[in-house]
Amino acid sequence: MQNNVRPADMERITTLEQANAFIDEQVKEVRAQVGDKKVLLALSGGVDSSVVAALLIKAIGKQLVCVHVNHGLMRKGESEQVIEVFGKALDANLIYVDATDRFLDLLAGVSDPEKKRKIIGAEFIKVFDEEAAKLDGISFLAQGTIYPDILESIKAAESGKPVKSHHNVGGLPEDMAMSLVEPVKLLFKDEVRVVGEALGLPHGMVYRQPFPGPGLGVRCLGAITRDRLHALREADAILREEFDKNGLAGKVWQYFIAIPDIKSVGVRNEMRYEGWPAIIRAINTTDAMTATIEEIPYALLHHITHRITHEVEGINRVLMDLTPKPIGTIEWE
Ligand code: XMP
Repeated sequence: MQNNVRPADMERITTLEQANAFIDEQVKEVRAQVGDKKVLLALSGGVDSSVVAALLIKAIGKQLVCVHVNHGLMRKGESEQVIEVFGKALDANLIYVDATDRFLDLLAGVSDPEKKRKIIGAEFIKVFDEEAAKLDGISFLAQGTIYPDILESIKAAESGKPVKSHHNVGGLPEDMAMSLVEPVKLLFKDEVRVVGEALGLPHGMVYRQPFPGPGLGVRCLGAITRDRLHALREADAILREEFDKNGLAGKVWQYFIAIPDIKSVGVRNEMRYEGWPAIIRAINTTDAMTATIEEIPYALLHHITHRITHEVEGINRVLMDLTPKPIGTIEWE
């Protein structure tokens, strides 16, 4: 699949049968493209890179080398799941790099959102390059590019005005002399999910809500500190757990916590307790270009507030963001 335009008559993949036919076709194409050479993949654990990994493992097994860079900005349990699913269950050739300290040291004191994004994006490529340089005989780079990435890049290039510098849609670093393997680049997200299911990936991984490349880095607002990042990760895990338990996980397109760099006065155990506010954002959208606010039952909001303020060190208030897009973007940074 060399070209970047989805043929007008390409059928949408909605059933497991169609997904299996797509997988068979891609397995053949990838084998023909790659031969006995090695392929490198940056495996974030998101839907797209995970589906590409599972597809390539099926096609070329250990010729695929997956590198998972933990930038320290992952959600709770995510890197562990990558190791569990790919390193253990699928027995992939997986290199796990814990680069938390590198990223957090570089980000210390940086409060400008665009600077943070640029640092995270550039360091990600650097860490990945360093790992690639240690490997022998890699001829191909696999990417989880999907069709909306291609459409959006074309639009941004035409208008010259992207709203934010998205990381992980930039493509190949210029000095990496490798050909690309992009088996799902003509698919839309819903199709990628059906393919993921057909490949036997866990439901939670396949139907995971979108997560930005810079991860919790753009939700720990302003200059990131380890304690606030930790509080964010814990509060976010509680929100996700409660949405799962209450049937909202499949209904709400994206939901997360953001924590600003401000403290307010509260009281805990009859003592003055200064803490950060945790801001809940829960939105619905079809294409992430516009978004509406999901109405969450008040009783559930009370319960989540209670849990976060009692279970997470450093948080003493919970707020709800009621801003649609536009005027707000989905992420806060
Ligand atoms: P915004 O904040 O621009 O977000 O309204 C729109 C959607 O894009 C996600 N997002 C990103 N995804 N890399 C990504 O892959 C990024 O750098 C990035 N920034 C934002 C955001 O979570 C939302 O779904």
